[in-house]
Amino acid sequence: MSKNNPQPRVGIVTGAGRGIGLAIAKELSTQGVSIVAADNGCDIDGSQENHIIVEEAVKQLSGPSRIYTRSVASPKAAEELVAMAIGEFGGIDMIINCAAILRDGLIFKGTSEDWEIVIKNNLSSAFYLTRAATPMMRQQFKENRGSGEAYNWGRILNIGSTAGLYGNFGQANYGSAKAGLFGLMRITALEMARSNVTCNYIAPFAHSRVTDIIEPANDQQAEYKNRALKVSPSHVARFVSYLCSPAASDVTGQVFGVRGREVFLFSQPRPIETIVQMDQDWSIDEFTVAVDKTFKKKFTKLETDLEAFNTEPII
Ligand SMILES: NC(=O)c1ccc[n+]([C@@H]2O[C@H](COP(=O)([O-])OP(=O)(O)OC[C@H]3O[C@@H](n4cnc5c(N)ncnc54)[C@H](O)[C@@H]3O)[C@@H](O)[C@H]2O)c1
Repeated sequence: MSKNNPQPRVGIVTGAGRGIGLAIAKELSTQGVSIVAADNGCDIDGSQENHIIVEEAVKQLSGPSRIYTRSVASPKAAEELVAMAIGEFGGIDMIINCAAILRDGLIFKGTSEDWEIVIKNNLSSAFYLTRAATPMMRQQFKENRGSGEAYNWGRILNIGSTAGLYGNFGQANYGSAKAGLFGLMRITALEMARSNVTCNYIAPFAHSRVTDIIEPANDQQAEYKNRALKVSPSHVARFVSYLCSPAASDVTGQVFGVRGREVFLFSQPRPIETIVQMDQDWSIDEFTVAVDKTFKKKFTKLETDLEAFNTEPII
């Protein structure tokens, strides 16, 4: 709650039963946000639902909450979630798209079934929910929901991954879904700006059941796992809470990373060099010379976050 907007805000957090999603739900709850906590309690690969997980989780929240225990990966679920937020709490101010599963496999071994399930679960679910909620968010802006001052509370956050930005071995489906969440974020930010709804992307690093199951294949991965185990998801939640605060009403369209008390702003793909042939089409030889001379020194390295974030986290 805030003196600028006395009406309690309402947030839908997917994946709120565990890990980073639960940390975010707890943090927003302490900030006075009424929470719709959506989590079907599935295993890491999306199988085996367990509704007790989210029922138990919301006991840790300090404010009002409702739970949604079915999978969020369908248009119907998205509509039900939005109806729940509006019916129970009167509006919808924040969406945190955090639910995700993993079905890893190298590109030459991955199955179509795993691809489709992961894309639907980790990317389409965010689209369904954003599509279902944004009409209400636009309407709230038009009606100045809250104190009567200009409404600027709308927040959408896509919890992504460095796997979608750098790539990662064995994560074609997961990384592609997370890269898709980047595009979805940019387009949502553009389209919702006129309704004062922000949309951002966070690549988190935090200890959760996902980091617990990493089986290091070499010393570098073992070090990575040890570092990851030290980092509480509460740090991600603190930054989410900032992004959802009035202070961040002009922060939109950005890609952040959070690892402990380090917060990173990522660059976004833009042309960084140009080669041009003014009067005739390029020949292969001309391309070879120009690419070698102008592009190669600026190529993006083939590295993963293992190499890019190989320092001790600050916790
Ligand atoms: N932990 C990390 O270091 C890390 C790194 C990169 C990205 N992430 C991302 O952060 C987010 C949270 O990850 P985490 O590590 O806390 O994972 P987690 O497995 O602990 O939590 C994910 C939650 O989402 C729920 N969920 C998954 N699919 C669902 C569905 N269809 N419907 C309802 N609930 C569903 C699961 O039941 C689980 O409780 C994910 O988007 C993940 O990809 C985490």
